[in-house]
Amino acid sequence: MDDAVNRSPVNGIPALGLGTYKNTNFGSCVASVRNALDIGFRHIDTAQYYENEAAVGEGIRTSPVSREAVFLASKVWFDDLAYDDVVRTARESLDRLGVDSLDMLYVHWPAESYDPEATLTAFSDLKRDGLIDNIGVSNFTPELLTEAREQCDAPIKANQVEMHPLLQQDELRAYAERHDIALVAYSPLMHGNVGDVREVCEVTEKHETTPEQVTLAWLLDKGVVPIPKATSRAHIRANWESQFLALDDEDIAHIDGISEEKRLGNPAFAPW
Ligand SMILES: NC(=O)c1ccc[n+]([C@@H]2O[C@H](COP(=O)([O-])OP(=O)(O)OC[C@H]3O[C@@H](n4cnc5c(N)ncnc54)[C@H](OP(=O)(O)O)[C@@H]3O)[C@@H](O)[C@H]2O)c1
Repeated sequence: MDDAVNRSPVNGIPALGLGTYKNTNFGSCVASVRNALDIGFRHIDTAQYYENEAAVGEGIRTSPVSREAVFLASKVWFDDLAYDDVVRTARESLDRLGVDSLDMLYVHWPAESYDPEATLTAFSDLKRDGLIDNIGVSNFTPELLTEAREQCDAPIKANQVEMHPLLQQDELRAYAERHDIALVAYSPLMHGNVGDVREVCEVTEKHETTPEQVTLAWLLDKGVVPIPKATSRAHIRANWESQFLALDDEDIAHIDGISEEKRLGNPAFAPW
């Protein structure tokens, strides 16, 4: 990793990443990845399900930033979590991305074909064979994390879950801290609607900034790794600059104190 990343990595993961879900237009996705790397991002999040791995790979390949400087994460969809399918689809991801290995491969959801023993043995074998550097899980509860840690002979490096001011994930954060697992925050900007949260707007006014920057600064202060999705260069730059916004204890407490809870992603197969 080079020194473009301002914050210290969390458990080896660059502290702020670029999300790419729904960035499916090839040219737009390539441009977003190139812009993010140019601005300073060194962590890109994709998934087999997003159908944009080829574009993400093209963005990395055509950027002046070297592949080695980038932390690249993808995910295996829940249809493909049987042992042979994990190995096959991971190889297909590498082909689409045009890389020899991934920095992180996540179990996208603990659903459908997820079988803790078979799935995590496949992930562990991919790591042993050098195709992935780290094993991650996503949308796991503390109970599922405990089971995964017992089954997997390599460390679970990260749990990627929805987190933002209306879903503060206190229990999962405490669990992750106890067990050296990074918490990666998806939908950190509430799909672009953090400006609807009164407390966030109050802190925004005080600092004369934007609700998005306040939210990302609040997440970074908690030691979690936000991966905001942004398409335009202006949004990508604004998100990067959230690292330079220093919130004080009063600001943090104000957002911590929000009692309303709202989960944006709640599919039928969710484990909660
Ligand atoms: N593991 C999982 O199950 C899971 C689930 C959901 C998401 N994820 C990951 O997490 C990433 C982020 O979550 P998300 O895509 O759901 O939503 P998000 O990051 O909370 O919000 C994305 C939206 O915010 C807008 N935005 C970005 N930066 C902005 C800024 N500075 N000012 C104003 N608006 C801004 C984007 O607009 P533009 O695109 O127009 O810039 C987009 O409409 C995903 O892309 C994906 O990589 C993972």
